[in-house]
Amino acid sequence: MSKEIVVSGIRSTGYLHLGNYFGAIQNYIKMQEDYNCYFFVADYHSLTTHPNPKDLKANVFRVLAENIASGLDPNKVALYAQSDVPGIPELFLLLNMIVYKGELEKVPTFKDKVRLQPDNVNAGLLTYPVLMAADILIHRALKVPVGKDQEQHLEMARNFAQRFNNRYGEFFPEPQVFRFNNDTVKIMSLDGIGKMSKSENVNATIYLSDEDDVIRKKIMKAKTDGGPTEPNMEMPDFIQNLFLLLELTATPETTASFRAAYANCNIRYGDMKKQLAEDMVNFVRPIREKAAELQKDETLLRKILKEGAEKANESAAKTISGARKLVGVDYY
Ligand code: TRP
Repeated sequence: MSKEIVVSGIRSTGYLHLGNYFGAIQNYIKMQEDYNCYFFVADYHSLTTHPNPKDLKANVFRVLAENIASGLDPNKVALYAQSDVPGIPELFLLLNMIVYKGELEKVPTFKDKVRLQPDNVNAGLLTYPVLMAADILIHRALKVPVGKDQEQHLEMARNFAQRFNNRYGEFFPEPQVFRFNNDTVKIMSLDGIGKMSKSENVNATIYLSDEDDVIRKKIMKAKTDGGPTEPNMEMPDFIQNLFLLLELTATPETTASFRAAYANCNIRYGDMKKQLAEDMVNFVRPIREKAAELQKDETLLRKILKEGAEKANESAAKTISGARKLVGVDYY
């Protein structure tokens, strides 16, 4: 049996943090064993915000290094840059002919961008979902691991696939959201406001690139309260979040002993944070060091990108040749 095809795009902007690690990367790592995975850095997508050309390569190499340091294995998955696969923009062009301006203008993420960057409402923003559909359909993928915020884009990819099939003949499978049995882990920001995110509160977010002392400082400043006032009290969400982080990085005994202290109302948050800080430092350090080492080795990163592109281009070429035949752009 051949393995099912999975595609996912990794944003090339921002530094990876614990929310990305436990929410996405860990799932990628589990998938790489059982699926035929195509994971790519979405560098073309990042151009919608006009990043400084001088920063682009460093951004791409950093996310690549951070993902590999976190456990993504380029020998098991095709790990590539979107811009190294010309079949993607080619399929994007074909899809654009069956996608309507009106449906793109209605997309909530587009409307958000119009509000957030009114001075730069470029066509790339409007057609973002079409490029994303091309990313997925280029490998005729069945499964796409994405967060809630991307589910609508995926639904559009399904619509476009269906529309293509109706017009030109059955060709693309309809890609589905990949869901994990265990609900995806959600990490809250350390200030208790929303989830740990790339851009918002930098001081309440732990990045995989944070130095030991930065991690300690951030954890010691995490939001707590006056502590439980009666036995077995329910925890506020920001305390639950600290326990979740402890569970993800400390030994079960450590977590159990702080849970018991909480239940008995004699927990000292200062002690718990000190412990969490040390466990977190031990957790992040090897990833940070590995990522830094990889980023220094551009020859290796280039080799990885090249091999990933070869795998991706092999699969893309088949799709493009099939799609061109169906559309009729096929003369030889
Ligand atoms: N839009 C996705 C995000 O913001 C990234 C992405 C681009 C993607 N192309 C994709 C994800 C294809 C899954 C499949 O996170």
